[in-house]
Amino acid sequence: MQALQKKSYPYWMKHLNNHEIAYLKVVEENVEKHFKNDTSGHNYDHIQRVVDLTTRLLVEGACIYTTYMIAYLHDMFDDKLDSPYANLSEVYAAWGLEKDEKFEAIEKGILSIGYKGGFEHQTRSLEADIVSDADLLDAMGAIGIGRAFYYAGSKGQPFHERSLEGVVSTNYKEYRNLKRNVLAHFEEKLLKLKNEIVTQRGKVIAVHRDEVLRRFYKQFKDELDGKK
Ligand code: ADP
Ligand code: NI
Repeated sequence: MQALQKKSYPYWMKHLNNHEIAYLKVVEENVEKHFKNDTSGHNYDHIQRVVDLTTRLLVEGACIYTTYMIAYLHDMFDDKLDSPYANLSEVYAAWGLEKDEKFEAIEKGILSIGYKGGFEHQTRSLEADIVSDADLLDAMGAIGIGRAFYYAGSKGQPFHERSLEGVVSTNYKEYRNLKRNVLAHFEEKLLKLKNEIVTQRGKVIAVHRDEVLRRFYKQFKDELDGKK
């Protein structure tokens, strides 16, 4: 597959018709408002990074409109975030949008995004694969480390307690609720993400971000052990 070369907003806008551009603008504005006050690592800056990464990962054959709609909307119905909308139909109704022929692909794509502790396997379209990789890459590298500690703090989870060393979640419910150290999240998720990435470009970006995670994880442990 040939990857699209440029990363700028106007470049991909050229590939969209007027209806698609209008809908993306409405969605972008409303998503920005929706996530503006989030303090769990899903602020609009996360959405923007996922959109930017999506641009880097886009390949020919993917529907550009569907891919960006999924990118902007992918965290709207996350089970761990409070959303006033139960599904995409409610979002469209609230934002004055009418369902078009891409609606179903967008909704299915959104619902297939999310690591969910690796406990729930998802089948994804090409468009959703691209956004999923973008979302996973934002949980890796320096930003991923920052988000993990930020998220844990926002949920009242400990920074690092000796008595919790070795405690990791074993099912989806525990993944969301079990009291554990942030390092557990590295073992449960972050250090596994490189192998979850499916797009060619995503794999290249993931190599370095994974190294950053591993170096940090090792250094953190070495400091706890008084080795460094
Ligand atoms: P997930 O489905 O794993 O919640 P998200 O991308 O929605 O994936 O998670 C948002 C951010 O919060 C990610 O950077 C993720 O790694 C981090 N995160 C999720 N759960 C935890 C946790 N239990 N401890 C620390 N960080 C977490
Ligand atoms: Ni996300």
